[in-house]
Amino acid sequence: MKKPILVVSTGAGISAESGITTFRDAGGLWENYPVMEVASADGFRRNPELVHDFYNKRRRDLLKAKPNSAHLALVDLERDYDVYVITQNVDDLHERAGSEHVLHLHGELMKIRSVTNPDYVESLDIEHLETTPATRGKNGDYMRPHIVFFQEPVPNIEKAIELVQRADIFVVIGTSLVVYPAAGLIQCVRPGVPVYYIDPNPADTSSVSGVHVIRATATEGMRRLAEILEDGRSKQG
Ligand code: OAD
Repeated sequence: MKKPILVVSTGAGISAESGITTFRDAGGLWENYPVMEVASADGFRRNPELVHDFYNKRRRDLLKAKPNSAHLALVDLERDYDVYVITQNVDDLHERAGSEHVLHLHGELMKIRSVTNPDYVESLDIEHLETTPATRGKNGDYMRPHIVFFQEPVPNIEKAIELVQRADIFVVIGTSLVVYPAAGLIQCVRPGVPVYYIDPNPADTSSVSGVHVIRATATEGMRRLAEILEDGRSKQG
């Protein structure tokens, strides 16, 4: 029998319990770093060293982190659902947990790309994670972090919208729903599709119908969601 399609949209909150700092919570990254200097196209043009350094630091933090039980719970759901993860996160914790389908909206920390050809992407070797403006790819191009900077388009958004439109269940985890176009995905679900939003401090989603808010951390929220889904399946027989 065909499995229902469960689409998940994750933000920084799902990795918080793995020790990765979020952006907008108290003590978050954007309190300590000027966002438009380290994460925008203009900032990169003005001071590429600073931007490379910022992402070098993020990679060092990521090396110390492991997937948590929320990442793993999404993998468990693959037994009963076709699960598609759409993530704003640039970490690789969904992949390391074992999720089969992961679409990154804002790029990937463990990759770099050519400054002149956005389609030329290389994976970083774990032994050589530090990059500088002088870093060149195997093809000789100068390379930059494979991150979608503010002021740049989000190349994977069309694919993400298509996935959300196919969802039978849509789950949102750990995002402040501030950054567009990712924040708009919740508006793309088909009418009647149940939406679950797990976040200890959720944004206001009252304008979207059918949203069940689970006010909890990602690990606790995923535990509760697994029970809710299990209940639903047993009622359907
Ligand atoms: P934010 O930092 O804006 O929001 C983090 C969300 O996670 C908040 O809603 C918190 O309440 C929630 N949160 C905190 N701890 C949590 C936990 N243990 N479990 C579950 N949720 C928790 O992060 P994002 O919404 O992901 O983009 O930010 C979106 C984008 O803004 C990022 O991808 C990044 C940033 O600028 C780029 O850099 C391009």
